[in-house]
Order: sequence, then structure tokens, then C-alpha cells
Amino acid sequence: MNKFIIKGGETLNGEVNISCAKNSVLPIIAATILCGEKCTIKNCPMLLDVFVIGDLLKSMGADIDIDFNTGDMKIDTSNIKNTEPDAELVRKMRGSFLIMGPMISRYGKFKISLPGGCNIGTRPIDLHLKGLKALGVDIKIGHGYVEGKASKLLGDRIYLDFPSVGATENIIMASVFAEGETIIENAAQEPEIDDLIDFLNEMGSDIKKIETGAIIIKGVKKLRGIKYRPIYDRIETGTFIIAAAITKSKIKINGIEEKSIKPMIAKFCEMGINMEINEKDLIIDGRNELRPVDIKTMPYPGFPTDMQAQIMSLLCCTKGTSVITETIFENRFMHVPELKRFGANIKIDGRSAVIMGVNEFLGCSVRATDLRAGAALILAGLVAEGETQISDIYHIDRGYVNIEKKLRKLGAKIERTKE
Ligand code: UD1
Repeated sequence: MNKFIIKGGETLNGEVNISCAKNSVLPIIAATILCGEKCTIKNCPMLLDVFVIGDLLKSMGADIDIDFNTGDMKIDTSNIKNTEPDAELVRKMRGSFLIMGPMISRYGKFKISLPGGCNIGTRPIDLHLKGLKALGVDIKIGHGYVEGKASKLLGDRIYLDFPSVGATENIIMASVFAEGETIIENAAQEPEIDDLIDFLNEMGSDIKKIETGAIIIKGVKKLRGIKYRPIYDRIETGTFIIAAAITKSKIKINGIEEKSIKPMIAKFCEMGINMEINEKDLIIDGRNELRPVDIKTMPYPGFPTDMQAQIMSLLCCTKGTSVITETIFENRFMHVPELKRFGANIKIDGRSAVIMGVNEFLGCSVRATDLRAGAALILAGLVAEGETQISDIYHIDRGYVNIEKKLRKLGAKIERTKE
């Protein structure tokens, strides 16, 4: 089992390049099923989850060719015959569910094992299924599988009781060829959804977002294969901003999406982190004293739940009392007991964590319990005195490309070992 060994206390400097967003790439790869032609998805982050969805498509008959240097993924979905992807692969990642929409759209059927993913809550799929049913899909659940069949898909008005990212993406993809018009009310507004819409529209779909945030999809007859580069990863950007702030460093971050990071940045600025944001990069100067803040995770443009663990590490090292309320997932404080090993002073009260800033973190052995929790532990290790060992880092590898190499280039002392 690989571990990260970090010797904390180094100041960072230099530049880091952000990878394309995993949460954009996964639905976009799934959406290539829709066109049944050749697509090239450029600069894919070479991450486990991306390989899993690629293997999933392969298990159904797609041809996939990856250039591991550039991350360009050539995907030819013209030969997909099997509408039941490999169950083992599906269970590896919750994102596997994203193939339901494209499969029902192109083949009128799917059968998929109930998926896995980060252990951060029950993560039901009722909203995905509500949307599919509204379009005319007959759904059966049993023996650990979800099966969908539809002889014809008809556009409808669908209200999401919660703006679920995955459900919005699945319903968009399911309705691309549906007869008439589909309207998704209370749709998720995450930038990764806009990216999926841009990708689909470039392939020939007719999808638009109106002022209320509702998404309107007019059914088209056919899509064509294209080349496309997904957006940069705003969560990786946020993680490196915190890396600079927690180590009181000044670094440059290349490859940002100004619009999509703005809401999150507002909170960093409230803490007193200095930032110069340009069109394609940002310079962060984390050398000044920071202020505690209260944070509530919310659907976009609220503060992202995927940054909650990382900012908690920073608030632990910020003088004063901060409160984080997690409103998206019910079980997303698993990093708290691990942060306490560093010396953090955190009290959990239901969905809120009260964080009293401490003067120092001490290096220790901790376990990454999920992807973003693992990132939070790396950040804690960067500032902790002495050596930190992080185990179960496969979680971190699901979402961060070469995180230790990127941090080493900035001057951090972090190594990957084998036990
Ligand atoms: C996506 C992201 C994940 C991020 C999350 C919230 C990807 C691959 N993953 O996950 O990194 O943390 O958005 O920003 O893009 N819910 C239901 N019923 C459903 C679906 C969801 O109740 O049918 C609930 C979930 O339990 C959760 C909330 O809605 O409490 C948000 O989930 P959702 O937005 O669907 O997250 P994912 O798409 O799984």
C-alpha cells in the first residue's frame, strides 16, 4: 500500500499547472456514447476515475486510445453493442451512473450495477430515476442492478427537488434525442454542467440555460464526433490556494477558470488571503495573518462541499473560532478525527463543525478516508512540525493528478512510498 510521507514546515514558491476537471471529464466521456462517432477529449487528467469510466465504455465495446503524455483520449463509440457494462468497474466509482442517460438515449436501454464511490453519505439516485421516468423510461431495481427501458423518449418538464449534479447531467444526456422539449427546473448550476452543455452543443445538441437557471433541451436527430478540451479543475485550484495559505507562501497557479472559481475565492478573500486573479492564472500571497470565517457548503455558486475538508485544515491553523456547516452530504466529517491527530481543536455538532484555531500542528500518522479528506490531510502535513504519514492514498489518486510531484516542484517535502 502506498503512503505519502511529508516533512512539514517548508515554504512553497514557484508555479503549478492545474489539470482539467475530473468532474467535467467523467460526464463528457460518458456523453461520447451519444454521438456514436470518434471524439477526442483533450488533456484528460490521468486519474483512476478517468481510467475506470474509459474501461467501462470499453467493456461495452467502445475503442479507446489514450496518449499518456498529453492526456488526449480518443474515443470511438460506434461499436458499442453491449448495454450492460462490467459490474466490477461500475462498483468502483459513483460516476459510473453517468452512463444511464447516454445509454437510454442512444440504445433505449441500460442495465447497471448499483455503483460505489467516496464513502461520504448514502448518495441515493432517486432524482436521476425521477427524471428518466418523466422522459418515459421504465425503471426496474433488483438484485443489485438498475435496469431501464424505453421504446421512445418524450420531452417533459422535470423539477429536481435538490439541484443534484449527477441527476442534472444524466437527464440532460437522456433528453438530447427526446422528442420535443425537456425543461429541467431547479437544475444544478455547477460549472462542470455548463462544460457538458458546451460539449453537447458542439456535437450538435440544442441545449440552453435560461435566466432562472432552468435548462431547456430540444431534441435533435443526430450528433457528430468532435475534439474538445474540458475546463480546468476548480477544486484542484482551491486546494493549491490553501496549500499556499497554510504554508504562508506566495505561488502562481496556472490554468484557472475565472468565472467558476469566483464564488469560492470570495470566501478566501473574506479570510484575508491576498490574490491577484488574471484571465488564465492567479497569484496567491498567503503570507499575511488570516481571519476565521463561517462557511456553509451549498450547491454552486455556494461554497463547494468538495473544498470543505481542505478549508477545515486551514481554519484549524487560523486564530479564532470558525464554524463549517455541511449541507450537501450527511457524512462528510470523516477527516475530523484525523485532523485531531495533528492537534486540531474541532467539535462536531450535527452537521456543523466548530473549529478553534491552534498554534501548531504536529506531524503524525493518519488515514485518507475519502478523496477530499485525503487532500485535507496533505495540507495539514505541509504545515505540521516533523513527519506526517498518510495511508490509503488511493483515494487521493482518484482526484488529483501527481499531487506529490506538483507539490515537490513548489518546494514541499513529500514522497510516495510503498509499505
Ligand atoms: C457530484 C460530484 C462530487 C460533488 C457533488 C456535490 C462528480 C463526478 N461528482 O457528485 O464531487 O461532491 O457533485 O457537488 O461530478 N441526491 C439525492 N438524490 C439523487 C442524487 C443526489 O438525494 O438522486 C443528494 C445526494 O445524496 C447529496 C446531494 O444530493 O446529498 C448532492 O449530490 P449530487 O449533486 O448528486 O452529487 P454527485 O453528482 O453524486
